[in-house]
Amino acid sequence: MPDGMSSEWRRFKTNSEAIDYLRGLPRYRNSSVKSALSRANVFMRLSYYRLTHQSHPLFVVLVVNNHCDLTCDYCYGDYGNRHGQEYKDYSTAQLLELIDELWRLGTRLLTIHGGEAMLRKDIGEIINYCKLKGFYVSFNTNGFQVAKRIEEIRGVDTLVVSLDGREANNDKHRGAGNFATAVEAIRAGVAAQIPSVISATLTRDNMQDMEYLAELARSLGVRVQYSILYNPEEAAVHDMLMSSEETRRTAQKVLDLKHKGFPVYYSDNVLNTTIHWPGNHDRKYAKADPSWDKTKFEPVPCYHGILKYQIDADGRVVECWATDWDHAPNIKTLGVEGALNKCHDDKKCYHCSLLANNEHNAMMHMSPRTLLNVLRIQVADALKIGFARKNYKGTEAAQPAALTAADKAKLELQAFAEGRIPTTETETRALLRSGHKVSEAKTVEHSVIESK
Ligand SMILES: C[S@@+](CC[C@H](N)C(=O)[O-])C[C@H]1O[C@@H](n2cnc3c(N)ncnc32)[C@H](O)[C@@H]1O
Ligand code: SF4
Repeated sequence: MPDGMSSEWRRFKTNSEAIDYLRGLPRYRNSSVKSALSRANVFMRLSYYRLTHQSHPLFVVLVVNNHCDLTCDYCYGDYGNRHGQEYKDYSTAQLLELIDELWRLGTRLLTIHGGEAMLRKDIGEIINYCKLKGFYVSFNTNGFQVAKRIEEIRGVDTLVVSLDGREANNDKHRGAGNFATAVEAIRAGVAAQIPSVISATLTRDNMQDMEYLAELARSLGVRVQYSILYNPEEAAVHDMLMSSEETRRTAQKVLDLKHKGFPVYYSDNVLNTTIHWPGNHDRKYAKADPSWDKTKFEPVPCYHGILKYQIDADGRVVECWATDWDHAPNIKTLGVEGALNKCHDDKKCYHCSLLANNEHNAMMHMSPRTLLNVLRIQVADALKIGFARKNYKGTEAAQPAALTAADKAKLELQAFAEGRIPTTETETRALLRSGHKVSEAKTVEHSVIESK
């Protein structure tokens, strides 16, 4: 963060104070209708920004920590090996400030990412805050503790779990035992009515597992999205990288699986772009040229660095994970808006053949065919959540903690000292106890108080 904190979150001096505050907020209970509204909100904003040619961080991949329980050998962020002062994580308050700032700048679709985000003790509270604020939230994980702590993340709109193939092939690159953890996490997501997705990173070792993954996704009742390992500069992954020919064949296989009716995420044009990509698949920043055969695919412009950004836990802002990280602007020196603007101004990409990125490009381009595919998926996913979740049972971590009398007094004093309307139930109750009337103590928990 530039110059430390600048917001109301500054009053929390420690993570525990901020977390205690967050635990006093109402619990967000997602439903089909609420999730559909969050999705529609993203779409409305997108339409407005596109119509008015505005650039905003509508879609942000927010990396919330520098740590990971795994050390996958291909990881572009090397999150499992980040250590030391250089990689100090955002405090709870800093993360909340960043989230508020993104909301102010127009972000409505937040993909919460790590490292491994489940390693953050406050992750449930952060998600709850994001959902109360109104973001559409997608949550990416390797599955770590998901089954055990499912209630903490239950408010999310989509759960994305990485899983690369058969057990041996997955565990070879992602670590022993990860296959079992990931499958358990997906099952937990489905049982909790969270629309869930298998995200597979394909290498030469597991490209033959694509059909296996499609079958697995179908049997678990989730979708599967494939991405192709990318990291041309990293010598350690050279042997795993597919050639351009293998990449084309892989994308063709994804298209075939989709046409066979498997729950595959991508639009036809996105797959065709990778299949018929002119030249080498390492060729980033390509500009469309007249030699491109547009009868086979319609090149989609890149909106990364225009409407979508990735913010790393070390503060760097990039257009997307596959871009140049070495010269990336940093929110710690330029501020959030400054770093986003610099990233936008430095943008070099025009088109690329990366599957997941192009699917988002196609959505942001709003071509009618892609929108139909997106709409079909969004409606089906929203419906999976259900209309009312009567069986909500918060875990200890997800529920407001039992506050001590000293904590309550502290919160009460804080509210008075800052001359603000209390925003937690605890603060409201404290005000009522000290003789204030309900109208003065009006909060988001008002109805709870009144019904007592
Ligand atoms: C960086 S991880 C962070 C979230 C979480 N730890 C996980 O593994 O899902 C996000 C996704 O990026 C993928 N990934 C990592 N390195 C990659 C690379 N070089 N090329 C393509 N995908 C990569 C991972 O497999 C994972 O699905
Ligand atoms: S689990 Fe995710 S963040 Fe961790 S090392 Fe693997 S790919 Fe990287």
